[in-house]
Amino acid sequence: MIQDESIFTNRLIQDFNQCFGHTPEFMVSAPGRVNLIGEHTDYNDGFVFPVAIDKYLHIAASQRSDREVHLYALDVEEECVFNLDSIRESNTPPWSNYLKGVAHFLQEQVLQGSEHTLNGITAVITGNVPIGAGLSSSAALEVASTLAFLGGCGLEIPHSSVNTNNGIQVLECSPLEVASICQRAENEFAGVNCGIMDPTISLLGKADHALFLDCRSLDYEHIPLNLTDILIVICNTNVKRELAASEYNKRRSECENGVKIIQQWLPSITSLRDISVEDFKKYEDKLPEITQKRCSYVVEENTRVLKAVSALKTNDVETFGTLMNASHEGLRDDYEVSCDELDLLTEIAKNTEGVFGARMTGAGFGGCTVNLVYQDRVDEFQNKVNNEYPKHTGIEPQIYICNAGDGARIKWISDN
Ligand code: GLA
Repeated sequence: MIQDESIFTNRLIQDFNQCFGHTPEFMVSAPGRVNLIGEHTDYNDGFVFPVAIDKYLHIAASQRSDREVHLYALDVEEECVFNLDSIRESNTPPWSNYLKGVAHFLQEQVLQGSEHTLNGITAVITGNVPIGAGLSSSAALEVASTLAFLGGCGLEIPHSSVNTNNGIQVLECSPLEVASICQRAENEFAGVNCGIMDPTISLLGKADHALFLDCRSLDYEHIPLNLTDILIVICNTNVKRELAASEYNKRRSECENGVKIIQQWLPSITSLRDISVEDFKKYEDKLPEITQKRCSYVVEENTRVLKAVSALKTNDVETFGTLMNASHEGLRDDYEVSCDELDLLTEIAKNTEGVFGARMTGAGFGGCTVNLVYQDRVDEFQNKVNNEYPKHTGIEPQIYICNAGDGARIKWISDN
């Protein structure tokens, strides 16, 4: 994997050279993520448990002396130019909104009133985080571009550099503040009211660890993945998530609506996070049916995350897997964000010995499942998925065996 990454980054440096005629000053890399459990809980102030995967979005970049941003996206062969003084959301091309959004909020939220101003940058973008697969390619792009814009004015955030003692100025800005800029970019420039999970794990990922994050307090703990002989296997339905943005925003408002109704009896609650399973049972029949289903899923999922974290701490993979399966059932039946293809993949997993747990991961409506699989059974599981999934769907799946990787980094090339 590490070798793959260095081949990738060397090629990117060459491509940058070809595009712009000089070597880039720095490279940033930000990983995608897979969420092990705790789905659709982040925007309900709840708990999540993702890992950063060893698939990265890379940007090679150099500072410019003006305020223009010149971008070239290698994988889609598209370019975009915009000016930092006149940032406007626009779909030409759509991916540029993530960069425009983070540049806008960096200027407005982080750098305003400080001694720093953004410079333009020249950048080439590439990566191997599958796009539109629920593995957070957009958060990886937002995080990488935030570090790239800061790099363009000679700044790093704490612990983001792979070169130490390089004399580069460190901006006193916590990773969580960077995550909130990325979230705002996605909310206000891409129109998805997503939560804080994806950029946070892309920044705070740690090799061989999962991140237990409280999305209200933003307290977090890295939990070692002592999964001896067990691998994280991701299966991609290759189904595009057409309705994802509108249905996602709808789920969020259904949850908020549920909170408003329950507040009549429990006025101190501000989100579903504040309601225990027992209390919810007392009031659930006051809610319209759909609202009740959505809220009951979230309330239960929060308790599942807490149990799953405890199970992992004692290496109880059986319990962890059972909780993953229950999470999928809730997402399928109550939250209704699964789809036939995701359900089929979880059924194949359930019928394969040595698979401890399987569930959809990410926003849903397509994308991927995450599976914990006993190492000796991985081949058998892959064969089954590769045979049975296309038979029923006519679609070829993709399978990734993932390691938990490190979070986003900047590497100063001139320092080598
Ligand atoms: C998307 C969002 C996240 C989170 C997940 C569902 O990935 O970006 O904030 O809500 O869906 O858990």
